[in-house]
Amino acid sequence: MTVHFIGAGPGAPDLITLRGRDLIAASPVCLYAGSLVPEGVLAHCPPGCRIVNTAPLSLDEIVAEIAAAHGAGKDVARLHSGDLSVWSAMGEQLRRLRALNIPYDVTPGVPAFAAAAATLGAELTLPGIAQSVVLTRTSGRASAMPAGETLENFARTGAVLAIHLSVHVLDRVQAELIPHYGADCPVAVIFRASWPDERVIRTTLAALDPAIGAGERTALILVGRTIGAESFDESRLYAGDYDRRYRPVGTDPRFPGTGG
Ligand SMILES: C[S@@+](CC[C@H](N)C(=O)[O-])C[C@H]1O[C@@H](n2cnc3c(N)ncnc32)[C@H](O)[C@@H]1O
Repeated sequence: MTVHFIGAGPGAPDLITLRGRDLIAASPVCLYAGSLVPEGVLAHCPPGCRIVNTAPLSLDEIVAEIAAAHGAGKDVARLHSGDLSVWSAMGEQLRRLRALNIPYDVTPGVPAFAAAAATLGAELTLPGIAQSVVLTRTSGRASAMPAGETLENFARTGAVLAIHLSVHVLDRVQAELIPHYGADCPVAVIFRASWPDERVIRTTLAALDPAIGAGERTALILVGRTIGAESFDESRLYAGDYDRRYRPVGTDPRFPGTGG
């Protein structure tokens, strides 16, 4: 018996890995975080599967479901939205399972920030502008931010910020970031990336209207100079004169005979 933690992706039911889909199809129990996991993914559950929405359950109740499946020798597919490595509450479940000696494995998923960038049709790291993306959030009712992890501290680096769980505090985002990125810095707010009702607002920090965050909360805020940029360097990797292992160039290549 194994509990399969599976990243269910950002919304579109076909944005799940083949491994994740096959594990769901082979598991007689499926626990899913109903607030964000797309119901379409549940279509992969086998006939007769016990399907439980864990949104209204406590951690103790979720672990009790898993322990019952373990007692019956039944595999569990445990679905969380996006990828499991960020803001999935997987860590605390894994710790409980280790204490109970219940085996588990983890299958990654497509994270929201990647889906949002795909919606924009954009690469977030562009040569000469930004080479780092910070996945972050602001503090919420359930989770305070550690002291050093402020938007201002991250903004000082000039990295692209992918700000989660924060569309309701756009006024704060704006006030804290303008001093570092400038009022004209591009911002994109992507609501429900990859869902049928996906929506995108492209603006600047100064023109960002905090009222857009009053309704739908499933949104990612991307801030940085690469958003919508057309003026950037081409990567050296594909430059015609760049001598590299897979494309030796010139009469005295650095990696002779290793191309192919
Ligand atoms: C609890 S976190 C889950 C993050 C998830 N584990 C991931 O890999 O992206 C939920 C937040 O992620 C962002 N998010 C999740 N799905 C999204 C989507 N389809 N479009 C835009 N933002 C999304 C929103 O900021 C939302 O408040």
